[in-house]
Amino acid sequence: MPSVEVLRVTGGKRLAGEVRVPGAKNSVLKLMAAALLAPGRSRIRNVPDILDVEIMGELLRRLGCDVHHDTASASVLIDVPEQPDTRADYDLVRRMRASICVLGPLVARVGSADVALPGGDNIGSRGLDMHIDGLRRMGVEVSSEHGYLLAHSQGRLRGAQTWLDFPSVGATETILMASVLAQGMTVIDNAAREPEIVDICRMLTAMGAHIDGIGTSTLTVEGVESLGPADHATVPDRIVSGTWAVAAAITQGDVTVLDSQPEHLAIALEKLVTAGAAVDEVEGGFRVRMERRPAAVDIVTLPYPGFPTDLQPQFIALNSIAEGAALVTENLFEARFRFVQELARLGADVRTDGHHALVRGRSALSGAPVEATDIRAGAGLVLAGLVAEGTTTIYGVGHLDRGYAHVVPALAGLGASVSRDQVSDA
Ligand code: UD1
Repeated sequence: MPSVEVLRVTGGKRLAGEVRVPGAKNSVLKLMAAALLAPGRSRIRNVPDILDVEIMGELLRRLGCDVHHDTASASVLIDVPEQPDTRADYDLVRRMRASICVLGPLVARVGSADVALPGGDNIGSRGLDMHIDGLRRMGVEVSSEHGYLLAHSQGRLRGAQTWLDFPSVGATETILMASVLAQGMTVIDNAAREPEIVDICRMLTAMGAHIDGIGTSTLTVEGVESLGPADHATVPDRIVSGTWAVAAAITQGDVTVLDSQPEHLAIALEKLVTAGAAVDEVEGGFRVRMERRPAAVDIVTLPYPGFPTDLQPQFIALNSIAEGAALVTENLFEARFRFVQELARLGADVRTDGHHALVRGRSALSGAPVEATDIRAGAGLVLAGLVAEGTTTIYGVGHLDRGYAHVVPALAGLGASVSRDQVSDA
């Protein structure tokens, strides 16, 4: 009989203790792609042990790289050939939308990239128009055929003035990674300012790129003829940090989150303070303590430094057992509220209208079987399960594995009652 893996969480335990945060998923995948920009061996450290890193490793291997992921030292060695292959196949791209980030480096370095159009998370339509527009401005011909995006350039890319309609993380990365080897100057206006973008800029700088305005919304890149490999440590995962912070607050616990940079989470931590938590910086991270039922907090997701969309489901979970009602506004991904239907199975009272959700706090949730529909929805459901009465069985564990390393031992280490089990899928 076929079986599937589930996560079982029995609610009611207060989380307490210390937890360490690995490098950021949303950075490391791009850093691995950035290695393509130089022949030779790059080393990336502080690499999270998650499925997406394996998928990106496989993608780079198919492009001709030698990739060695050593989980014990949390590092990845990438040996990039003089002439990488240029095709990113659908079977990998469909599993991980971030595969698109090889587009910029390949076209800049080899003048050609054929990348399957992505699938990935089920969180709404995610266009590529700004990526394509930026590349075209640099002289790249872009077309699509049989489900593939075909990008070609005659000779070196040309630096260009570009601006984004919206500070898209992915488009900023594509244009940035294409521009570092272009001829002349590229300006990216209205660029994304996420800490993960800063991280990539730092790696590119270590490879020999010339980038000004790092961390601001105007990036100016003076292209160079060639880059060299780099040794770079990934920035800590602010979304994993924020998820642990909510875990402390929702269980009325006391958790110290280490290997973390609280300044990258300023608004989210401030929201927890509004909800009634005490948040203190400690060496190497921060501590969250909560001694009462949380108060409901309104949330509006925005590009960094605004409140991150990747923490929105976790805060809906928090609000679902809070005192009072909260309005949550999602401005980035329209389908992110899909997980609310699953949360409702636990008894949460959430009504959505377009990109708004009204969450009325309940005094208790009750455990039930639920399905994770994307990584952060999975995190939101685990958090709700931590406080629901009885057992919550979470299907779709594969989504959680894409973003959260060793989540069961980490939760158990803080006192949660949690297990990973096989159940029949008849
Ligand atoms: C990245 C993160 C994701 C996070 C998001 C916003 C990775 C692997 N993923 O996704 O976890 O939630 O940033 O912080 O790093 N858009 C367009 N046209 C484009 C590009 C984007 O319309 O050319 C739209 C998308 O459909 C979406 C919004 O802009 O609605 C945000 O997208 P973007 O900032 O690019 O997010 P990602 O890079 O896909």
